[in-house]
Amino acid sequence: MKLYVTGGTGLVGSNLIRLARAQNSVEVIASQFGPQPEWTVDYELDPLDISDAGFIRRSILKYRPDVVIHTAASVDQVWMRNNRELAWAIMVDSTMAFARACREINARFVFVSTDWVFDGLVPLVTEFSPPLPVNYYGIMKAVCEQALGAMDDLNYGVGRLAGVYGLNYAVPALLRREQSLGFEMGVFVAEQVTRGRVAEIWTGPNTNMQAHPTLASDSANMLLRLARNDATGIFHCFGSESTGRLDFARAVASAFDAESNLIAAVPTDAKALEVHAGIQIPFRTCASVEHSSAVLGRRALNVAEGTAAFREEWDAFHDGRGS
Ligand SMILES: NC(=O)c1ccc[n+]([C@@H]2O[C@H](COP(=O)([O-])OP(=O)(O)OC[C@H]3O[C@@H](n4cnc5c(N)ncnc54)[C@H](OP(=O)(O)O)[C@@H]3O)[C@@H](O)[C@H]2O)c1
Repeated sequence: MKLYVTGGTGLVGSNLIRLARAQNSVEVIASQFGPQPEWTVDYELDPLDISDAGFIRRSILKYRPDVVIHTAASVDQVWMRNNRELAWAIMVDSTMAFARACREINARFVFVSTDWVFDGLVPLVTEFSPPLPVNYYGIMKAVCEQALGAMDDLNYGVGRLAGVYGLNYAVPALLRREQSLGFEMGVFVAEQVTRGRVAEIWTGPNTNMQAHPTLASDSANMLLRLARNDATGIFHCFGSESTGRLDFARAVASAFDAESNLIAAVPTDAKALEVHAGIQIPFRTCASVEHSSAVLGRRALNVAEGTAAFREEWDAFHDGRGS
């Protein structure tokens, strides 16, 4: 399989490439925008700014992959709010340009979306629930999902992720060390507790209080399955268990053999709230993964499995075995 990955220096993209490279039958091409990978890589890198749809078509027609997995996106809510037009070009126009280029060469297109297409108020959402995003990021992802579904003759799958944590294998300097209003706190908690420091977990206002935390390497597994599948539509490729913010932090601490008293609940940081003023964060996500697991032949890891695997990856990486 010839696989074209966008966002290859990102958290999800770098894990995808790593897993795909471990499967000898996969040839990888990765678009590259910002920083160069920190290590010499054994796959083809194509410098590409996805804010230009013309570049996208040219790149896809040049490589003619069997599958494109489109992970590249901004996840910076403040930047997107302050740069609406450029954000739309990167998030929406680029997605449609990749989809059209894939259709032109009969390639499969896998679009990476998010649980934030929901408002976080419905008790249980499924792959078929109507979206109701509460912020610009979620709106753009929902627009893409709908537009892909409306395209004739497109071989596509949407893989939704949620609260992704883990190691960045392309540019470790980009590791997300800070807590966010979202659910990406795995590295933050691991770094705090392995140094014997208290991890202060924001518990509101305006934080994502419940989600399906997803180990990046496990999201790669699910997205590669979606790439190899020919099913059309939306799939929940996120962790199979919905959990609370504090419970997840405690699970990470436990995986690193730390006492749970190193996890402390605190109000959301005032500065973070000020910076994000006017940006609403979905409160909770609890979603079904039954349909996706049945189609993809596997359910993603639950919280205990994911945090245990994260610890193993962390140890291997810091021993120099994971690079
Ligand atoms: N992280 C989460 O918790 C989460 C949750 C749900 C869904 N998702 C989705 O998962 C996907 C991957 O997220 P991630 O966490 O891996 O994000 P990430 O680490 O920030 O990676 C995003 C990638 O997009 C690339 N990119 C941004 N602007 C670009 C441009 N103009 N041209 C080309 N590439 C560009 C970035 O390249 P540079 O680094 O070079 O700028 C980066 O490699 C996204 O679609 C995101 O919406 C993530």
